[in-house]
Amino acid sequence: MSNPKIIAVFGATGAQGGGLARAILDDSDGGFAVRAITRDVDSDKAQALAELGAEVVAADVDDASSLRRALEGAYGAYFVTFFWAHFSPEKEKEEVRNMAAAAKAVDLRHAIWSTLEDTRLWVPLEDARMPTLMEHYKVPHFDAKGESDRIFTEMGVPTTFLLTSFYWDNLIHFGMGPRRESDGRLVFTLPMDDKKLPGIAAEDIGRCAYGIFKQGERYIGRRVGIAGEHLTGEQMAAALSDAFGEEVRYRTIPPDVYRGLGFPGADDLGNMFQFKRDFEADFCGARDPAVARALNPALKSFRKWLEINKDRIPRGG
Ligand SMILES: NC(=O)c1ccc[n+]([C@@H]2O[C@H](COP(=O)([O-])OP(=O)(O)OC[C@H]3O[C@@H](n4cnc5c(N)ncnc54)[C@H](OP(=O)(O)O)[C@@H]3O)[C@@H](O)[C@H]2O)c1
Repeated sequence: MSNPKIIAVFGATGAQGGGLARAILDDSDGGFAVRAITRDVDSDKAQALAELGAEVVAADVDDASSLRRALEGAYGAYFVTFFWAHFSPEKEKEEVRNMAAAAKAVDLRHAIWSTLEDTRLWVPLEDARMPTLMEHYKVPHFDAKGESDRIFTEMGVPTTFLLTSFYWDNLIHFGMGPRRESDGRLVFTLPMDDKKLPGIAAEDIGRCAYGIFKQGERYIGRRVGIAGEHLTGEQMAAALSDAFGEEVRYRTIPPDVYRGLGFPGADDLGNMFQFKRDFEADFCGARDPAVARALNPALKSFRKWLEINKDRIPRGG
């Protein structure tokens, strides 16, 4: 393929960017090439991408000067920030300013920004239904992303705003899977009552992003929400039971109890689940699985994802 369009992929060694990098690399006649951005070009993950045909380039979202070099000559870029690496919404906003400024400087043709809602538009800071965190936020890892959308617009970067969903992979990596209780039975806990949680295989986020790049300018300036499925905790527990061949019971707990669980970020995630629970219609309505499937025909259902991943989900106490 002559002169493929280069997509600079931030987080290419991680979940979202990794899915996009692999989607492009899997489609060798698609007209796109991957520039995988990493802080360590020698890491095993970076080298694995290089072996699959990616150009691997060093940059750090906290080093503004490295970003322009990383984007030079690229047609597009996938921008994602890494909240859980530092837990700082202020830092996340600074990273977006760096990325958008670099995109503008190189006259990038199409950016995809992996964003989430600014929940303060639904729950203002003075609203006592959930605690204000870090003085300025309700759901810090959402609000900083949503607040940053306008940075791309104000800087005149041609951007698609991609609203992502809860990764089902959190059941593997984020300690959110079922726990075995003292009576030996598995319990899956979410503070969602009977409300639906939009979820997705993390890999599919990047694969949907590839679908957006392939559509070209049609998606510039638009907000696109994606999910694999919208499922209640009961439905997720039923699918887990079938996958494990062992009953998994769903238990809902109040967001306040979740906020008090004591692990880093529990208050942020407690507020996040409360937001998703209390604004179910808006939150699910913004993430249409049919849109995601049109962008990525191989989109997985939760049951399909479980078929592949069930043995990676810890089932301990
Ligand atoms: N978990 C969920 O359910 C969920 C749902 C929606 C949205 N999100 C959001 O997803 C974001 C994280 O994306 P992800 O899950 O794809 O991340 P991830 O899997 O943790 O991957 C992050 C990758 O980005 C790279 N990276 C980290 N810090 C960097 C920096 N300063 N500069 C350049 N690269 C850096 C790292 O690569 P190197 O080490 O190779 O540099 C790492 O492999 C978070 O902001 C989170 O809020 C999460």
